[in-house]
Amino acid sequence: MISRPLMGLALCASILGSTVEAYADTELKIFVSSQHHPDVWRKVFDQYESRTAGVKVTIEAGGNTSEAQAQYLNTVMSAKDTNLDVLMLDVIRPAQYAAAGWTSDFSGKDMSKFLPTYSEANTVGGKVVAIPAFADAMFLYYRKDLLDKYGIQPPKTWEELTAADKKITQGEGRPDLQGLSFQGKAIEGAVCTFLLPYWSQGKTLVENGKLTFDHDAAVKSLTLWKSFVDDGVAKKNISEVATDDTRKEFQAGNVVFAINWSYGWSSFQGKDSAVVGKVDVARLPSVTGGEQASCLGGWEFGVSAYSTHQDEAKKLVEFLSSPEVSKFMAVNGALLPTYADLYKDADVTKAAPWFANALPVVETAKARPVTPRYNEVSETIRTTINAVLAGVSTPEDGASQIEARLKRILR
Ligand code: GLC
Repeated sequence: MISRPLMGLALCASILGSTVEAYADTELKIFVSSQHHPDVWRKVFDQYESRTAGVKVTIEAGGNTSEAQAQYLNTVMSAKDTNLDVLMLDVIRPAQYAAAGWTSDFSGKDMSKFLPTYSEANTVGGKVVAIPAFADAMFLYYRKDLLDKYGIQPPKTWEELTAADKKITQGEGRPDLQGLSFQGKAIEGAVCTFLLPYWSQGKTLVENGKLTFDHDAAVKSLTLWKSFVDDGVAKKNISEVATDDTRKEFQAGNVVFAINWSYGWSSFQGKDSAVVGKVDVARLPSVTGGEQASCLGGWEFGVSAYSTHQDEAKKLVEFLSSPEVSKFMAVNGALLPTYADLYKDADVTKAAPWFANALPVVETAKARPVTPRYNEVSETIRTTINAVLAGVSTPEDGASQIEARLKRILR
C-alpha cells in the first residue's frame, strides 16, 4: 500500500494573514437526495471548497425517490465501497445504517442545539450516528386564489376538503383540475399516505418495538383514500403518482389541494411555476372527530464507515449541518431548518412565510416505526395501499395483509 502522508492531514496555512483549513488534495464524494435541490447544495459545497483549501466536493445524486436511493445505497454499502464519503440519509434510515455498521460515530458531538426530534433520530444506542441536514413534515398545499374565490377556509377535516373540492371543481368547470393529489405509487411517501388518517384516529403502529396495529383504523384509512379515487376527488390513476409528480402537477396549476413535503415551496415560486403568488400551506386535515396529524420526514448526514477520509468528511458535515447552511437551504431550497430559532428568522420567513407556523407541525409530527427491519415494514405498507388504490385489493383485505405481514416482521 502506498502511503500518502499528507492525505487527510489537516494543515493550517496562513494565507494573506487569514488562517484557512487545508487538506492536501482530498476529494469528498457526497450522496445527495436528487429531489432535494442538488443544484442549491452545490452552492453550499462551493462555499466549503472556497474556505477549505485542498478539498473538492463532488455530488452523487441518487434515484428520484427515497426507497430507490436506499436500494442503491444498500448495494454500495453492502459491498463496503470506499467511493462515498458522506451520505444524505432519510430520517428513517440511521437506525438501520448504525445496526449494519455502515456509518461512523460522531463521538462527543453536542446535539442539544438541534430540534430534539432529530437529535433523537440520530442517536442510536447512545451513539450519535448521523447529523441533521434538514427537517421535514407533510403539509397541505392549497390554491389560495381558488379558495378565496369561493369563500372557503382551508379544510380541517377530509370531509371539509371533499366539500371544498366539489365546490371549486364544479365552479371552475375544468375537467383537468384535480381536487387532491397525494402519493399513491408504491414509494416511501405512500407509507405516510397510509399512516396519516390512521394516526389521525389516535392509533399507533408500533410501541416499544411491539406491533400495536388497529385493524379497523387501517380499514378506515384505506377506505378514505380509495373513496377519493372513486368519488373523483383524486385522479383515477393516483396509484401511479409519486411525490415529485404531485409537485409537478400542482406547479402546473392542475391541482387544488396537494399533500407534499416542504421542498415543493421553492419550485412553486420559481419561473417555471404557474402558481406563483397563488399558494398557501396548512396543516393536513384530520378524519372527522380525530386529530390533525403529520408524518415526520427529514434527512441526515452520515459519514460512511468505509470512507478513507474520516476526518475531512466529518469536518464537511460539521459545516453542512451548521445554522448558516440550514438557513441558506431554507431560504434557497425551502428545506425546513433543524434549528428552532431559524423558523422566525426574517430572511427565512420572507422566502417562505408559512415556515413561521411550521415549527409546531414538525415538533408534533409522528415518526414512522424505528426498526432495523424498516425496509420490510415500508414495503408491506406501500405495496398494499398501492394495490387498494389500483383496485386490485379491497381496504378490508389490504388491512388484513398489512397486519399479517407486519406480525411476521416485527415478531
Ligand atoms: C421526504 C421526507 C422523507 C420521506 C420522503 C418520502 O423526502 O423528508 O422523510 O421518507 O419524503 O417520499
